[in-house]
Amino acid sequence: MSQKVGYNKNWYKEWFGEDYLIVYQHRDDSDARELIKLIVKNTTISQNSRLLDLACGNGRHAYLISEYTKNVVGLDLSSHLLHQAYKKKTTGQAPAFVRADMRHFPFNVKFDVIFSLFTSFGYFEDDEMHVHVAKEIYNSLNPNGLFILDYFNAAYVAERLIPQGKRTVGEIEVEEERWISDQRVQKKITIQRDGLTKTFHESVRMFELHELENLLSKAGLKIAKVFGEYDGSPYKKDSTRMIVFAEKCT
Ligand SMILES: C[S@@+](CC[C@H](N)C(=O)[O-])C[C@H]1O[C@@H](n2cnc3c(N)ncnc32)[C@H](O)[C@@H]1O
Repeated sequence: MSQKVGYNKNWYKEWFGEDYLIVYQHRDDSDARELIKLIVKNTTISQNSRLLDLACGNGRHAYLISEYTKNVVGLDLSSHLLHQAYKKKTTGQAPAFVRADMRHFPFNVKFDVIFSLFTSFGYFEDDEMHVHVAKEIYNSLNPNGLFILDYFNAAYVAERLIPQGKRTVGEIEVEEERWISDQRVQKKITIQRDGLTKTFHESVRMFELHELENLLSKAGLKIAKVFGEYDGSPYKKDSTRMIVFAEKCT
């Protein structure tokens, strides 16, 4: 029987490596390009704007947004994903990458736009820590700076949760079990590769829009716009995403 109760609180330190990139290989540059287009259309980013891709992973968004400004920094905790980011080839301006924990920003400069894309928030055990991250973001934004958060839409996920699924990705067999507990979407991922079995977890806080609004406001960030899809459709109850643009209140 599968073990669904509880989860490893440090799951995010273990999961975002080589296997993550294989399991989520459909989240590629073309997926990233659509979201970057939405961001560029709804901001006033220029060549001199300073941008931070918070939890940048392998840098897919950081590279694409570097077509619009020369000052892009990607921050992530995963050495493996950062290594992949460094290795990417570009004909244009390359972003800078830094390894750090989003709970402790290492910067002595401020940014015009900070973004956190593809559900890279809500990983910690309690909302106080999420507010703390939001305060780190606030403190690293210039006056009138913008925080953009691309998150899953909790209502959509709750209604369509597929409890179990198996698939083959390249050479690996992936089994995913999903459930909801403690206001979190929980996922157990079992990977079989070359006769070895590995297990990982994902556990992400489900936020309704009003909860996110409340959380961000505690850090001085005020939601100005919300989209429900990467194509710019407005947010609705059955949108797949919840993409918020929040302004720094001064
Ligand atoms: C779902 S992935 C998304 C990555 C990237 N934004 C993308 O769209 O490809 C979440 C990212 O958050 C990073 N991460 C997890 N916990 C972190 C932490 N405490 N501080 C900084 N980055 C973290 C992971 O290493 C991973 O790259």
